[in-house]
Amino acid sequence: MAEGTKRRILTGDRPTGRLHLGHWVGSLANRVRLQHEHDCFFIIADVHTLTTRPEKEAIAELPDNIREMVLDYLAAGIDPERCTIFVQSAIPETAELNLIFEMLVSLPRLERLPSIKEMAEAAHLEVLPFGLVGYPVLQAADILLPRADLVPVGRDNVPHVEVTREIARRFNSLYGAVFPEPDVLVSETPVLPGIYGEQKMSKSLDNAIFLSDSAQEVEQRVRQMYTDPKRVRADIPGTVEGNPVFVYHDVFNPDREEVEDLKQRYRRGKVGDVEVKQKLARALNAFLAPIRERRSQYASRHGVVEEILVEGNRRMRAAAGETMLRVREAMGMTYFR
Ligand code: TRP
Repeated sequence: MAEGTKRRILTGDRPTGRLHLGHWVGSLANRVRLQHEHDCFFIIADVHTLTTRPEKEAIAELPDNIREMVLDYLAAGIDPERCTIFVQSAIPETAELNLIFEMLVSLPRLERLPSIKEMAEAAHLEVLPFGLVGYPVLQAADILLPRADLVPVGRDNVPHVEVTREIARRFNSLYGAVFPEPDVLVSETPVLPGIYGEQKMSKSLDNAIFLSDSAQEVEQRVRQMYTDPKRVRADIPGTVEGNPVFVYHDVFNPDREEVEDLKQRYRRGKVGDVEVKQKLARALNAFLAPIRERRSQYASRHGVVEEILVEGNRRMRAAAGETMLRVREAMGMTYFR
């Protein structure tokens, strides 16, 4: 496809640290696939972390978190030649566009979003910071600054993309057609449970297997996994459906025959958890081996993450400058500059 006809994607993450298998299932696999046919922008949304954690100690953790996250992107197979990976705080135009967008959305519209309350609760905040209410507006600025027309996100972020579409529509109707109304692309795969089964995989719940975990760490985590709680002995028939070990086998073990055989024997009480887990650990480690390999290659090349981000920031700023020219032109705010 010619460069000009590619759809532009913008998506990204808050830099909260290393990425895990849940991120792979929910977003990374999708991005790796999409990068071949789209013009991809990936934002490391560090400013968004300030909405719940503005303390200096939290900010001090960001550089390492950003570095680990970029290494995970690269390890997962995101190609920095094809994609633009950039850091939100390095793009001052984001703040400028955010300010303009704040005029185009109502407070009740934002306060209605369950995600804002959930983030406040998770961060133990009793009152809502202004900036947290504005979280989706800042996200709209992220998305519309490069004039993205496609936004791959998890289900929880869909309402934010809806706000983005409304802001784009409102801007365009007031000032003229500058922005696309971006489509959302929701990841089809169901949320990956954590190793204890009940909740989704999450770093803060300490139930994750990280892309950067060693083979030994993976084996240990798999040994800790919950299975069918009613099956107290290996010769009791067990339940496969919703059983975390089989959820993982289904997602990560490419040997369908092996998985089917294990499921059948499990249902009949003819296989122990140990075998099911050993085979799962082997499959996970086979899946992670090339990811680990790429990670260590990139990590050993001194300064490579920095170079990738400098180049990504440069590309993003070029797109941002172009958009802001159009924005000011459309608004008629070109005077006295
Ligand atoms: N809100 C996303 C999250 O839950 C992070 C994010 C910030 C984002 N800006 C974005 C996602 C723009 C997609 C597009 O972590």
